Amino acid sequence: MLKLAIDFGTSVTKIYKIGSGIVLAEATCVTVQKDTGEIRAFGNEAKRLLGKTAEQTDVCFPVYEGEIVSERLAGALLEYFLRKVVKRGTSVEALFCVPCGYKVESREKVYRVAKAAGISRVNFAETPFLSVLGQDVPLSESNPVFAIDIGAGVTSIAAFSLDGIIAGLSMNVGGSNMDVHIIDHIADTFSLKIGSLTSEKLKNTVGSLIEDDNQSTIINGRDIKSGRPRSVSVSSADIVFPIKVYIDKIAEYAELVLKKLPAEVSAAMLKNGLYLSGGVCNIAGLAEYMSNKLQMEAHLSGDPQMAVVLGGGRAVGNPALLRRIRLE
Ligand SMILES: Nc1ncnc2c1ncn2[C@@H]1O[C@H](COP(=O)(O)OP(=O)(O)OP(=O)(O)O)[C@@H](O)[C@H]1O
Ligand SMILES: [Mg+2]
Repeated sequence: MLKLAIDFGTSVTKIYKIGSGIVLAEATCVTVQKDTGEIRAFGNEAKRLLGKTAEQTDVCFPVYEGEIVSERLAGALLEYFLRKVVKRGTSVEALFCVPCGYKVESREKVYRVAKAAGISRVNFAETPFLSVLGQDVPLSESNPVFAIDIGAGVTSIAAFSLDGIIAGLSMNVGGSNMDVHIIDHIADTFSLKIGSLTSEKLKNTVGSLIEDDNQSTIINGRDIKSGRPRSVSVSSADIVFPIKVYIDKIAEYAELVLKKLPAEVSAAMLKNGLYLSGGVCNIAGLAEYMSNKLQMEAHLSGDPQMAVVLGGGRAVGNPALLRRIRLE
């Protein structure tokens, strides 16, 4: 049986295939013909059309804040992704990476969608375990670790060991909130209306929590008063506010989780530091910022966006480990 780890993320779906490594990372996005409901484009091709489609076409994200919102669209998209990485007729066992504390009903939706897409055996494991496994941190019963994964729609925060989550939560805060807030912020400060692709790109290129970071980029939009196209140069300082607001919120919740821990666990946590993952952790200076806020060392893996699916790959390839961390 072929084994896969699948991170069906709000923004990006990542797939790890045992024996090959990461074989797919594509936008969790489809375009739909409004009158017929027919799907016209999948994945990255669909996302490129965001803000550019004619009236008859909708750009849809079937996973919203970590949760499947359209089983039909999610199923078709998952099937499309599987066709890209698995030969037809192959029997597949998959481990789905889900947020910390993912509800049973949410899991059932993923299960139905996975079954409909032809997956024979479906397992689930929570993001924090997979995030640290993907960063080569060995899990044991006696050595608790602390991890924060900041995705597009969900942030998972947890203190845990191989025995399970000691304290943890997930919250619907992530990169998408920043993108939306940046659109409003650019409208207020530059009187310029920009689209969501531009906003995301802006965050990902000049977004920074380093004080005095002076990177800048030119963005195109529509002048709010004249309605004419206009370009402006935007710097890191111009968009630091709509990024910091959400990072501060996440830090506040991380503090709450830390405060719930028994003293012994707290001490171990402080010694081990914090493990960061998720695409948003690519923001320059984020690890140092979190480290200062939480007063603990922060570790950031080479490619934080891939840490969870890499960990999923580790787990799905190791049945004994999978039995320990999978959700029953
Ligand atoms: N260089 C970067 N700087 C800032 N943000 C980035 C960067 N690269 C990616 N991101 C953001 O990371 C988010 C995607 O990260 P990730 O793939 O971890 O999320 P996801 O798994 O799809 O979502 P979720 O886990 O919330 O369901 C997006 O909001 C994206 O804009
Ligand atoms: Mg994710």
